[in-house]
Amino acid sequence: MAPIAAPPLPEAVRTESPRAVPATTLWEERFALRTHGMTSSIIRELLKLTEAPDVISFAGGLPASDLLPRAEIAAAVGRIAASGSEAAFQYGTTEGLTPLRDLFVRHMARYGIRVAVENVLVTSGSQQALDLIARLFLNPGDRVLCEEPTYLGALQAFGAEQADFLSVTTDDDGLKVDLLEEKLRAGPKFLYILPNFQNPGGTTLSLSRRRRLIELADHYGAPIVEDDPYGQLRYEGDHIPPLVALDAEFRGGARGERAFSGNVIYLSTLSKTLAPGLRIAWVVAPEAVVRKLVQIKQAADLHTSTFCQHVAYEVAREGFLDRHVKRLRVVYGVRRDAMLAALDRHFPPGVRWTRPKGGLFLWATAPKGIDTAEVLKEALAEKVAFVPGAPFHPAGGGRESMRLNFSYAPPEIIEEGILRLGRVLSGALSTRG
Ligand SMILES: Cc1ncc(COP(=O)(O)O)c(C=O)c1O
Repeated sequence: MAPIAAPPLPEAVRTESPRAVPATTLWEERFALRTHGMTSSIIRELLKLTEAPDVISFAGGLPASDLLPRAEIAAAVGRIAASGSEAAFQYGTTEGLTPLRDLFVRHMARYGIRVAVENVLVTSGSQQALDLIARLFLNPGDRVLCEEPTYLGALQAFGAEQADFLSVTTDDDGLKVDLLEEKLRAGPKFLYILPNFQNPGGTTLSLSRRRRLIELADHYGAPIVEDDPYGQLRYEGDHIPPLVALDAEFRGGARGERAFSGNVIYLSTLSKTLAPGLRIAWVVAPEAVVRKLVQIKQAADLHTSTFCQHVAYEVAREGFLDRHVKRLRVVYGVRRDAMLAALDRHFPPGVRWTRPKGGLFLWATAPKGIDTAEVLKEALAEKVAFVPGAPFHPAGGGRESMRLNFSYAPPEIIEEGILRLGRVLSGALSTRG
């Protein structure tokens, strides 16, 4: 029998001197193909720059630090440690802590979302939910239809699975639903929609557009991922039912006689209403989808931190969350107003901005020819930061825009930061001529 030839050694093994090969090369040349197009989020990179204590940052999506519920969390941790139960310190189920899932079910019922515990999966932030959804549904080249602009972290999660993006622009009433059909004909795998106080735009999808969106998505057989971190943080106007509830109504299942089985997967999080450091969020999906997400999550992290789930449950279970959200609404509403007033005073003519009814962000757009990535460099020299618009646009564009967060800084700091930013923008506009 002819001897079997040994396979050729990889390039690095054939190199004569091991020292000739830099330590990382072996790993770098083995990066999986799908990772080649990945870049780190400009937001994460920026947050590093804005960590300097003297920078006024409108960049992150951070809750106000003085409103973090430190005392309630400390008391919850104390109770957990003193309880004698080991559950918070042990491994848990991938689905999540049942009492916490149940709490989410009751919480959502108040917003018209009628589901069972089996429809709820606790995730390590909504960001993980987006990643799990991407891994479950997307093959390379699949299309995701999203708003333009849209949440950068979703673009990252879907892009990691090599998705292509179809996008539809937004106006003050959110996604321009009249432009949707053409894109739906291109056969997206799903739609990714932020109906409330959109990140980054700050816009809210009107009720009539929500209903039309549900009808169109149904007509073209395209399911919807509804991402709703900000729905509770409304500072004016009436609550608008979430897509997941409207979809159930559309299908005649609003009274909950049937198991939840709609076209909408719904995501929400405690990051903006309690503390992002807990990394507690949840997904609502038909049971078969939850079971599959559970398998993927098992491979990712076994389960979300049992300790943090117990803390979140302890903090939330006696109604603290509701009281806290009421307080956040007041404080963030004041900060939003402070930013809008400061923009009126200090931003140069020609710059426009959205007037969000809730959430954490507004979106400002300068005249054509201004590149906000360049403006940011000047702004950082003036110790003020924001996120430039282009990365939120999957199909290009957005260079003239910027996302401004109004929840983190108190009103007097907002005033000073917008004053500085207004100066920088005026400078950029006069250079542009
Ligand atoms: C629209 C949207 N989705 C998801 C996330 C991620 O949130 P979490 O902290 O729950 O991972 C954010 C955070 O800013 C967001 O704005």
